[in-house]
Amino acid sequence: MNTIKSIVVVSLGVAICGLVSCDSGNLRRDPGHIYAPDMTYSRAYDAYTSNPNFADGQTSRQPVAGTIARGHMLPDHLKEGDTTSYKTFTTSLRFNVDEMKEGGRLFNIYCAICHGPNLDGQGPLFASGKFASMPANFKDGKYLHMPVGQMFAAAKYGKNMMGSYAAQLDEKQRWMVIAYIKKVQSENGGDAFTFGEGAAAPAAKADTGKAAMPMAAADAKKDEKKTK
Ligand code: HEC
Repeated sequence: MNTIKSIVVVSLGVAICGLVSCDSGNLRRDPGHIYAPDMTYSRAYDAYTSNPNFADGQTSRQPVAGTIARGHMLPDHLKEGDTTSYKTFTTSLRFNVDEMKEGGRLFNIYCAICHGPNLDGQGPLFASGKFASMPANFKDGKYLHMPVGQMFAAAKYGKNMMGSYAAQLDEKQRWMVIAYIKKVQSENGGDAFTFGEGAAAPAAKADTGKAAMPMAAADAKKDEKKTK
């Protein structure tokens, strides 16, 4: 008798469980019990939420005017469309072997699709016929002696059908890519390569270069050690 009772009780239990778990199909949106509400609901304002504490109502803030993030470079003061200043614009950055390799790697990621891994303007996108405008052939006479500042401006602002790569490549990375192009050009009839480590900085005053903040640089070194 007892066994029959327990069988009935157990099967009833299973049936009820089954019924309860069959939801009506509505998604349950509330999380039920919260173990640590502080973790579920942040007390701080989340990055993309509105914020009554600021006049523009946004939580994400712009960097304070006139400041430079640690490890970043001074602003270049280039003005979009000012092609005269493009031509004289340059940098005092010089790159070692690893940085030159990195420049090549970045070129292959961001530029080779159009300009071609051989820098001849025959990248797969253009060769496929799906991109109407011929990308610059860096081995062509027209581009062999192009001023580096003009190249920098193309990478920063784009040029006609070519978009800007300012969001993908920071200033140093842009210069590394251009150094890579100039290196290949120097081996294909272009000007002598001047971006190599130890090469004399150009006479023209460059207004890029590492932010001149020795203290910050020293701090950054310390941080680096800590994270190791
Ligand atoms: C979507 C295709 C595409 C990609 C990707 C691309 N370019 Fe271009 N690029 C072009 C085209 C097209 C032109 C020719 C623009 C013109 O003269 O009308 C051009 C022209 C240039 C020029 C010559 C600018 C001038 O003043 O005549 C430079 C320098 C250049 N590109 C550098 C780069 C670099 C560096 C990258 C990678 C960060 C890159 N491009 C990525 C399509 C591309």
